[in-house]
Amino acid sequence: MNAPLHTSALFRPSHRIASIGVSEILKISGLAAEMKRQGRDIIVLGAGEPDFDTPDPIKDAAERAIRAGVTKYTALDGGQELKAAIRAKFKRDNELEFAQDEITVSAGAKQVLFNAMMATINPGDEVIIPTPFWVTYADIVAIVGGTPVLVPCSEANGFRLQGNVLERAITPRTRWLMLNSPSNPSGAAYSETDYRPILDVLIKHPHVWLMVDDIYEHIIYDDFRFVTPAAIEPALRSRILTVNGVSKAYAMTGWRIGYGAGPSPLIRAMAVVQSQSTSCPSSVSQAAAIEALNGPQDFIRDRCSSFQQRRDLVVGALNAIDGIRCRAPEGAFYTFASCAGLIGKVTPDGQTLRSDTDFAEYLLRAAGVAVIPGSAFGLAPYFRISYATSAVELEDACQRIARATAGLS
Ligand SMILES: Cc1ncc(COP(=O)(O)O)c(C=O)c1O
Repeated sequence: MNAPLHTSALFRPSHRIASIGVSEILKISGLAAEMKRQGRDIIVLGAGEPDFDTPDPIKDAAERAIRAGVTKYTALDGGQELKAAIRAKFKRDNELEFAQDEITVSAGAKQVLFNAMMATINPGDEVIIPTPFWVTYADIVAIVGGTPVLVPCSEANGFRLQGNVLERAITPRTRWLMLNSPSNPSGAAYSETDYRPILDVLIKHPHVWLMVDDIYEHIIYDDFRFVTPAAIEPALRSRILTVNGVSKAYAMTGWRIGYGAGPSPLIRAMAVVQSQSTSCPSSVSQAAAIEALNGPQDFIRDRCSSFQQRRDLVVGALNAIDGIRCRAPEGAFYTFASCAGLIGKVTPDGQTLRSDTDFAEYLLRAAGVAVIPGSAFGLAPYFRISYATSAVELEDACQRIARATAGLS
């Protein structure tokens, strides 16, 4: 999934990161950027963030904080006011009650995950990660010396982990199971019924903790009802870390505020990691996040329905193409479509498409559309489209994909 890092006579990367390198995702994005620079008309469908702006009341709160001198270090893992807003959010949205010392705030959900792994993983410890998955999970586990155990989840099961598959993957060395709902890249989400068999397996294996990444909680469609495991199974509360943040729901990716809720001994250990890396989350961003969580929430629904229209547009257009099959995701802003029907086909210049990477490269060169191959997320042959871009651009992109695909023989 990753290309190795460059080394030279002068530069030697640590063992810790030598096997990690730069994500394959960046390869296709790099190629797209280069083609754009050369003047080619390229549509990049790779964005991992909403195309909306941060709402004005949130920006205003940040401005007020700057003027009021909220510009100093804060408490290590987040100020009391933000922690209180996070607790209120969990109560409001998830019917979960947490104490103040069960909450941690970091520079994005990503740092929450990093702190958690850094605080708990010893060399050789295993972390189960269902695929397709957000590559960051495996890379963080590898950086801290753990072993990612990738468990494929088929399209037939909606890209969701099954209880019996989890059971087979657990060993005495397993420390964590990582789940993400709705998922990047598949958009698949777990209902309470989907979670139940997984939670039952975890109850039987008390040495395994559960990390759930709920960052796309508010971007869900149709009648899907979002649920989170800590609310479903109180018996597991003492070993669940629930991760969330303001990046996606409030279009605040650049502000870098994520949070986690879990047992206080874990939260304290994570604060130790944070104390010697970033010291605390940005004071100004914390003020913005307080407004995001405590302020009006209704704009989220409007933005969601805009995403849903775009999801329907892309899913409909892709399913109309021979050789491509796309399930309608329950949430997030990605489609994860199969291109199995195109593998083995030949491009107009005589190249055989042997993988989803070949297909993605063909789309980029022939149609000027940049998508990410499923292999970058650990499941092939698929490709991910981010529809966090305008409907006009999406329509254009889908027409280009249809034309390029029709050119295959
Ligand atoms: C599944 C998932 N979790 C977490 C994140 C990162 O969130 P944050 O911006 O809060 O670090 C992303 C961003 O793409 C994501 O896709």
